[in-house]
Amino acid sequence: MTTQQQQWDVATGVGRTALGVAAARAVETNSPDGLIEDPYAALLAQAGGLTAPPPGAPADQAVPAWSFAARFLGVRSRRFDEYLVESVAAGIDQVVLLGAGLDARAVRLDWPDTVHLFEVDQPKVLEFKHAVLTEAGARTSAHWHFVPADLREGWASALRANGFDPGRATAWLVEGLLCYLPAQAEADLLDTVCALSAPGSRLAGDWMSEENTKTVTSHPAFHATNADAKTDLDSLWNTEPREMSPQERLGADGWQVSVDSAGAWARRYGRELSGPAGELIGLTSIVTATLPGGVR
Ligand SMILES: C[S@@+](CC[C@H](N)C(=O)[O-])C[C@H]1O[C@@H](n2cnc3c(N)ncnc32)[C@H](O)[C@@H]1O
Repeated sequence: MTTQQQQWDVATGVGRTALGVAAARAVETNSPDGLIEDPYAALLAQAGGLTAPPPGAPADQAVPAWSFAARFLGVRSRRFDEYLVESVAAGIDQVVLLGAGLDARAVRLDWPDTVHLFEVDQPKVLEFKHAVLTEAGARTSAHWHFVPADLREGWASALRANGFDPGRATAWLVEGLLCYLPAQAEADLLDTVCALSAPGSRLAGDWMSEENTKTVTSHPAFHATNADAKTDLDSLWNTEPREMSPQERLGADGWQVSVDSAGAWARRYGRELSGPAGELIGLTSIVTATLPGGVR
């Protein structure tokens, strides 16, 4: 990583969003209609100084921002849990989480011991997660590789130096990441993913169109949630215009792309969304893509 790019930990800037997502997953875990179980989410959020309900505690006493975010993040986490489980069942044994943050899937999903799981994020974010999960005695059956890197540049060589094999099919996850990247860094990241993907590779991710981003950032609930979370997503999201959407970029490279809204996934999971949560959640696209070819 060059020193020119700004770095952060979980207490500052974009890093704090990883803590917020963990707090929301803690709420989701404890909700009567929760769509995922993440027993490490509260531990991670609390270790970073956020108030999150420990396993078993009533979810409805949580900070409103995390409860609001959980309505969406529960849907997203559940969908991407399924994506990863399906990818591994299809024979993919190399998984890369880009902007892994405090995602605890390494230790909460059941991985075959043939799987190599790579997590790419800023060094201090990964150090924090590793320390908290190790202290908690969390274990994984996968080969777990931490790749400290800046996703705006140079991360592909760090990934390869940590054992990533571009000759093998990969399941990529781009969860809650692209909105923080400058337009050129987003384009470079997706081009790099394409260049590193063997036939049969898959990708899943979530993002919003420019138009939907404008709708969300002008919604009163967005500002109320930001204030409650003591986070300024307005300044952290990078809204530079993109030359093409991620799905167009992947499609141009030969990926078969499927786009659906988080709202549609919420309905499939039986989650009723009303009020601002319903209005805003539907605006995020949940995307999966496959590169044709047999897995090896
Ligand atoms: C909202 S969090 C999502 C984390 C995780 N994917 C999840 O859903 O729990 C965004 C993550 O992207 C990481 N991130 C954003 N920009 C990055 C960059 N340029 N280099 C490395 N990591 C970055 C942040 O550090 C943070 O952990």
